Amino acid sequence: MGLSIADIVAVSDDLSAAGVWTRHPDKVTSAPLPSSAYIGDDIAGLAAVSDVIIDFSLPAGTEQVVDAAAKAGVPLVSGVSGLSDAQAALLKSAATRIPVVYDRNMSQGVAVLTRLVADASAALGPEFSIRIDETHHVHKKDAPSGTALKLGEAAAAARGLDFTEAKHFDDESSPQPGQIEFQVERRGKVPGDHSVMLVSDSERLTLSHSVASRDVFARGAVTAARWIVGKPAGFYTMEDVLFGE
Ligand SMILES: NC(=O)c1ccc[n+]([C@@H]2O[C@H](COP(=O)([O-])OP(=O)(O)OC[C@H]3O[C@@H](n4cnc5c(N)ncnc54)[C@H](OP(=O)(O)O)[C@@H]3O)[C@@H](O)[C@H]2O)c1
Repeated sequence: MGLSIADIVAVSDDLSAAGVWTRHPDKVTSAPLPSSAYIGDDIAGLAAVSDVIIDFSLPAGTEQVVDAAAKAGVPLVSGVSGLSDAQAALLKSAATRIPVVYDRNMSQGVAVLTRLVADASAALGPEFSIRIDETHHVHKKDAPSGTALKLGEAAAAARGLDFTEAKHFDDESSPQPGQIEFQVERRGKVPGDHSVMLVSDSERLTLSHSVASRDVFARGAVTAARWIVGKPAGFYTMEDVLFGE
């Protein structure tokens, strides 16, 4: 993801990479960075010379990024998925001091899909059961995906349900009425397919999204980075970036 973002920034006239935070500077040699760019592990120093930070590290690394962004007062765009409750709380706490865009799926299409799923779940009554299917490549570690959970949370919120109680992951038992069913498939190199079905006895509505290239997440993150500069402190998602809320 870091290399994809560097590629996009390199061809954007309005952006310049201040640097890359990395434990392995040798790995970054193929990135198209300006000669002035910092490459190293001093995240506080890099934050101090940046207008915005984009974080696509892993949960184990992200706490340092959030801390540095909050201390330097620099807006943060984070796409790190699989955060623990404590890490998510840290991000929310930072958002009281700086603007933060956090999303488990940075694509524009999923931002719109989330809105559609919420609208459909609210408009179609409880006689419509909800099922979320996701397919990803065989190397993906978390299941269901962060995006599937995000869609389920949106559906539950739209119906006034507690997501923790409404979710149904166990594919060995049948979901109870009112529960939101998740089906997970791991296959080949699939970058990410999600579909949400609302089914009654007499009709079925399917909303779906398919990723053709992971570059879409990098593009979304760069769009969010442009959007967030100058915004007040707060916790934002890609829906805010897209729908201007
Ligand atoms: N929100 C979205 O739309 C979206 C889309 C795709 C991916 N993601 C998420 O984005 C993240 C990156 O994905 P990826 O595919 O680019 O993964 P990746 O290739 O494994 O890259 C992870 C990066 O984080 C660094 N890192 C890991 N642990 C660290 C630590 N403790 N301290 C400092 N740096 C650390 C790694 O550096 P080293 O090389 O030093 O290990 C590597 O550069 C993941 O959390 C993934 O779930 C989100």
